[in-house]
Amino acid sequence: MAKATEQQKTAGQGTVLPRHIAIIMDGNGRWAQKRGLPRTAGHAAGAETFRRIARYCRDLGVEYLTVYAFSTENWKRSAQEVSAIMGLLKKYLEEAIEKMRRENVRIRVLGDTSVLSPDIRALIARVEAIDETLTTHTQANLCVNYGGRDEIVRAVRAWESDPAHGELTENELSKYLYTAGMPDPDLVIRPSGEQRISNFLLWQSAYAEFYFTDTLWPDFTEKDMDAAILAYRSRDRRYGGVKK
Ligand code: FPP
Repeated sequence: MAKATEQQKTAGQGTVLPRHIAIIMDGNGRWAQKRGLPRTAGHAAGAETFRRIARYCRDLGVEYLTVYAFSTENWKRSAQEVSAIMGLLKKYLEEAIEKMRRENVRIRVLGDTSVLSPDIRALIARVEAIDETLTTHTQANLCVNYGGRDEIVRAVRAWESDPAHGELTENELSKYLYTAGMPDPDLVIRPSGEQRISNFLLWQSAYAEFYFTDTLWPDFTEKDMDAAILAYRSRDRRYGGVKK
């Protein structure tokens, strides 16, 4: 682990570090447009930012980092853009197979992966097999072909067709979500100035704190993460209860 900077010490201090941070990686297209580059260049820069922020979260001791890489609605984008994002995902998974043991970040892909290309599905299986052998405290979840409503419908269907299912309660249904066994996100970050949830972790974000910033995702730095964590620490989380 790299030597902690002053910034890291401040952000990661105390008991109020979020266990689970979720990010809507927004603003890649605008970042590219501002530079006169194709949108796909923005996604490439966004994938780089994800690598950097995942390492930072590992160094801080965040247990789960979940990012929205491709939604169930993103298929509406041009074939060229879809294929560029899939290409970046493939490259990321290939690199992960090489580097995961050194980087010590577990990787999971959440979403309906059945429609992804066979080569990407094979890479996901390889990455998840390596991930079983890691001792890390940090897991990065890449949401691909993910939609919050779709996830809930699938969970209900899976529950219904499971002969061993229990009584339908919130806790029982959670076992059939992609995030089964993981804590809910404490902090959801959306860069790029938009302030909406866009079908991301709808069930899991019920009591999450939200942090919005105008920074475009490719420009998002460790300092922005510190600012988000510090804002989170100043919030009074009551989970529907009364102020103490
Ligand atoms: C939203 O920005 C971003 C996406 C729909 C794709 C995000 C994908 C990546 C960062 C690459 C793949 C990820 C990994 C981790 C390998 P936008 O295109 O909607 O931006 P805009 O609102 O400025 O147009």
